[in-house]
Amino acid sequence: MEIHQKLKFWFQKEGRDLPWRHTTDPYYIWLSEVILQQTRVEQGLPYYWKFIERFPHIQDLAQASEDEVFRLWQGLGYYSRAKSLLKTAQRIETTLQGIFPQSYSDLLALPGIGPYTAAAIASFAFNKPQPVLDGNVQRVVSRCIQLEEPVESKKGRSQMQEWLNQSMSHKDPATFNQSMMELGALICLPRNPLCSRCPIQEHCLAYQAGSPERYPIKKPKPAKQQMYLAFAHAEHSNKLVIQKRKPQGIWANLWELPSVVTQKTPAISDVELLFPGVSDKPYLQVELPYHLLSHREIRASVFIFPYEGPLNSEQKWISKFELDAYGFPRILTRYFESMPD
Ligand code: ADE
Repeated sequence: MEIHQKLKFWFQKEGRDLPWRHTTDPYYIWLSEVILQQTRVEQGLPYYWKFIERFPHIQDLAQASEDEVFRLWQGLGYYSRAKSLLKTAQRIETTLQGIFPQSYSDLLALPGIGPYTAAAIASFAFNKPQPVLDGNVQRVVSRCIQLEEPVESKKGRSQMQEWLNQSMSHKDPATFNQSMMELGALICLPRNPLCSRCPIQEHCLAYQAGSPERYPIKKPKPAKQQMYLAFAHAEHSNKLVIQKRKPQGIWANLWELPSVVTQKTPAISDVELLFPGVSDKPYLQVELPYHLLSHREIRASVFIFPYEGPLNSEQKWISKFELDAYGFPRILTRYFESMPD
């Protein structure tokens, strides 16, 4: 039996029943893949349902405001993905007459759609023989072929692609891709892989060598840049001051507490820049837990103080009960959840 047949049998018996596996609608598939790049299946499911309930068709999403999309996306992080989601929906509506492109290269040209997502949509929605290569698939393939190159390297990727092109079913590429991803998620685990239950064990060189956990080999990661931030929580009768972030840089266009980037651990004197006179009065400092972004490690404090003075034109007062109506970076939603009443 061919590899793809073994995978298909296994997948039909052991694969999870997930909603996006019952559709070939490219909009639903795209949505699920964008969400699943951010989070695990269990955490992603409620977001998937929320989005398709609010935006059953791509036209509904195309007409949404960025703030509303951010609000639904809240908790997933990387808001640039949410932004691209909206941009792509608008592009498809306005310049492609609402019709999703079918080919890998046309899909790749859309905002926020990279090689992985383009391959997923092309294969799951349009049955194109385009192998997907996400983290799970990389783990499976790098073990099968004992890939000694880093999986992110050009050489590593092309060796994995070659194996996939040869092993893929050209009749049913969708099931091949789903089953490879599922094998990575359920059996070919990063630690303690369940090789005894693997349908393609006999095709796996790393298993035969007794060293599956040695793969995938990864390039060492560059150290993350440290970023220090002071947030001002200016409060008056259960209201607080928020402002919208600029369209560039991290957390672009999201809402936040007024903030300053500082050179070292933030102190109340940094908040003086935002609210002059604040350090003469009582205040409370709450150090937030370290927050990791893709390239940065954020060390932030919130300074809480009473305030009744003027605001600048970007700032506004909102009641604490209205916080849910705004999209905030995750570091702040966590703070709001833990906020003293
Ligand atoms: N992770 C990313 N895409 C997925 C999919 N289609 N099914 C299950 N897990 C996934």
